[in-house]
Amino acid sequence: MKIKKAVFPVAGLGTRFLPATKAMAKEMLTVVDKPIIQYAVEEAFAAGIEQIIFVTGRGKKALEDHFDRSFELELTLEKKKKYDTLKMLQELVPKTGTIVYTRQNEPLGLGHAIWCARDIVGDEPFAVLLADDLIQSSTPVLSQMISRFDRLRASIAAVMEVEPDQTDKYGILDADEIEDNVVRVRGMIEKPKPEDAPSNLAIVGRYILTPKIFDYLGENKAGAGGEIQLTDAMGQLLKEQPIFGYKFQGTRFDCGDKAGFQMANLAFAMERPEIRGKLAKFISQMGQNFCIERK
Ligand code: UTP
Repeated sequence: MKIKKAVFPVAGLGTRFLPATKAMAKEMLTVVDKPIIQYAVEEAFAAGIEQIIFVTGRGKKALEDHFDRSFELELTLEKKKKYDTLKMLQELVPKTGTIVYTRQNEPLGLGHAIWCARDIVGDEPFAVLLADDLIQSSTPVLSQMISRFDRLRASIAAVMEVEPDQTDKYGILDADEIEDNVVRVRGMIEKPKPEDAPSNLAIVGRYILTPKIFDYLGENKAGAGGEIQLTDAMGQLLKEQPIFGYKFQGTRFDCGDKAGFQMANLAFAMERPEIRGKLAKFISQMGQNFCIERK
């Protein structure tokens, strides 16, 4: 039961990022110098994933081209003797046949997007990564989760504690802690109002799921926001199989949100030695100006 396949739903409308996402998938927005989807793909390969399944909608071409070779560009870089850049570009292209594309022809929700990959996933447990949840960590979060899966042999969602007044932005768990950083789920609810939330333990965009989930996603029932929700299908699955939540090690940035996206850019840029100095100086100057303006 090795986790070999990872589904990347990239067919959302990204309405919170309009107009940037009018003609381009939100997952192609860049953090420092890489589209956010590339961070997620690198995380999946680092965790031992062998096949990437993109569920695309609009913006498919830019995403496909990003993970494909560009002979014209490579030739130009070679002529200009920019060998390091050339090597970096060649290394980002996965081996032929490792990436599979399928299409969600209507954005009916995350649950529906995952269901679109059912025939490619087949009858084996698989991972789901939402690229707009960008996580900075020393061990890739998916690797952390796969090592828990190897022991627990059941579906697992990455979870984190959120401010109690933020529960209506997440799938929220009703769960009991069974060991360090692992909870056993009793129930889950999508985007509850703070007063209805069973806890402040929120699901973020990393999952390992058993293929049984497709039976429930296939019922195509719309839930919160009129969308077919993965959380609802997981709630159904829970009646048959255990589900766990894993409190991952790392810092998560919500790149589907404008503030979260800017914070991700800052945090990832500060990790780059060639940028850090200039940026730190600029931030401190800005901080001073900001304080003066506020006085
Ligand atoms: P979001 O809930 O962030 O929705 O999707 P969205 O449409 O992308 O963005 P906003 O809220 O309108 O700004 C979470 C993930 O599920 C995918 C998105 O691409 C994102 O990775 N998704 C969502 C789909 O693939 N299809 C859908 O129908 C909905």
